[in-house]
Amino acid sequence: MLEPGCGSGRYLEAFARHGLEVVGIDSSAVMVELARRRLATSSLPGEVVLDDMTDFDLGRSFDGAVCAIGTIQHLGCEKLGRHLSCMARHLAEDAGYMIQLALYDPSGRQDVPSSSWEESRGDLSLRIDWTTEEVDLAAGRALQRSRIEIVAGPRQGHVVVEDHEMTAWTPETWGAAIAASPFTIGGVFDGAEEPPVALGEHATGGLIWYGLRREAPGY
Ligand SMILES: C[S@@+](CC[C@H](N)C(=O)[O-])C[C@H]1O[C@@H](n2cnc3c(N)ncnc32)[C@H](O)[C@@H]1O
Repeated sequence: MLEPGCGSGRYLEAFARHGLEVVGIDSSAVMVELARRRLATSSLPGEVVLDDMTDFDLGRSFDGAVCAIGTIQHLGCEKLGRHLSCMARHLAEDAGYMIQLALYDPSGRQDVPSSSWEESRGDLSLRIDWTTEEVDLAAGRALQRSRIEIVAGPRQGHVVVEDHEMTAWTPETWGAAIAASPFTIGGVFDGAEEPPVALGEHATGGLIWYGLRREAPGY
């Protein structure tokens, strides 16, 4: 299982616990170190590579891949194309690639994606708010903002705010980008339900899973 944009490796850990052989890629050295440490701490096998998900060559192929929680929005149209070409070269013939992202409603009627949650570890508690501040669908851009507040523990009250320039995909632009790639959309699922609910390709709103299939072997 290959995970591009694996971050601190929480999915790698979960998959490895289920007995899968996992490889993660991330372009952040800090994240790669965290992911490696996470696997090592749990004595789980797996590899984490410091690399760019739009341009990598691992010299091997995988039976499946996953890219979670809107990580793909870090890539613009051209970089997405390069990423999907790379992925096609790294996936076995019948392998699937699951991508989770939130599409924007082109009518502007639906709420833009945002979420808030809390995390605790030891005596440290954080509150995280992830909001969409501006959307320009014509330009395909969204300005997202993360606000992390330390609500308990050392440095209580400290707040870190960061802005993230992301790509705003609509069902139309996302569908066109996949159609121009070596993949087709095999299924669209709501990840919140068990078993997942099958959605139409034009679903918008919260995070949903796109199951991509390689269009033709050896693309
Ligand atoms: C939203 S985080 C998701 C992390 C992980 N999938 C998770 O769910 O915990 C996105 C990750 O993508 C990484 N990333 C962004 N652009 C990248 C690129 N071009 N190549 C590799 N990693 C990238 C970031 O460093 C970050 O760790």
